[in-house]
Amino acid sequence: MPHTELAAETICITGQQTHGGSVFPLVLQCRDSAASLETVREWVAANREDLVAKAKRHGAILFRNFPLATAEDFDGFVAAFALPNFPYYESLSNAVRVNRTPRVFTANEAPPSVTIYLHHEMAQTPIYPSKLFFFCEQPAETGGATPICRSDILWERLKEQCPAFARDCETRELRYSHVMPGENDAASGMGRSWQSTLRATTRDEAETRLRELGYSWEWLSDGLRVTTPVLPAVRKLPDGRMTFFNQLIAAARGWKDSRNDPSKAITFGDGSPLDRDAVLVAVELGDELSFDIPWQRGDVALVDNFVAMHGRRTFTGTRKVLASLIADESVS
Ligand code: FE2
Repeated sequence: MPHTELAAETICITGQQTHGGSVFPLVLQCRDSAASLETVREWVAANREDLVAKAKRHGAILFRNFPLATAEDFDGFVAAFALPNFPYYESLSNAVRVNRTPRVFTANEAPPSVTIYLHHEMAQTPIYPSKLFFFCEQPAETGGATPICRSDILWERLKEQCPAFARDCETRELRYSHVMPGENDAASGMGRSWQSTLRATTRDEAETRLRELGYSWEWLSDGLRVTTPVLPAVRKLPDGRMTFFNQLIAAARGWKDSRNDPSKAITFGDGSPLDRDAVLVAVELGDELSFDIPWQRGDVALVDNFVAMHGRRTFTGTRKVLASLIADESVS
């Protein structure tokens, strides 16, 4: 029997959305949960272009009932897509993470009570991944869903409800500011130290890296305040769709810890404040348009980072959701 005979069928799940005739997320269920890993990897390799195209069209794909149990299984599944890895080590991510394999790491070490609000991965930095894979090694006892949200739909709705703000986002763009601690702080969703984030051991090295990236900075007694260069608030996709590609919701709502105050986290590119009412509308649209991935052990989600935002609900018990990021091929 040819290897590509591994059967995966499209199924419907509760709460699934439909936008302009396309479901969100697309859910593919493996019909043979006893299939070998090798068969699964061959199936991925044979269908990878189609799967990547579907992730772009739908925003996300949930793979269910595939025979994956460990970080190594997940690594093999992702590797079968033959896409360029985006290593955490080189990224400017704010989150504290722990590598499990060279391309697989814990999604965020922040405690269960911390909500991670909707965002496009690393859209608050000049370097971001094009896609993300998540893998549920162990679902939480309660809660712990990964909300995902179609950013093109949110942008359409925001333009209708707040046209002046939407125009400002397009023309004035955004800047982000936050304080990195002097040491990793796993109690915070944004606790990655400046040494780790900037791959620096001394202040001089940190400043050299910041200069290269176009950031401005200020040394504080408890860390380093950095402000990004002006970054776009929206992104045009190759098919003409526009997405709300930024970290506005997460920054305005959640960039909060012992060092950070969300009200200082984000401004327009010229430093002027955002319209608070319009920010609230964006936050509410994010809530309204979220689909919560109801994790089951072994699930994989492929999220197109340019189309869909993601976050993390609070939870109880032990939750092990791993992640692997794909670099943006269009700039590599
Ligand atoms: Fe994230």
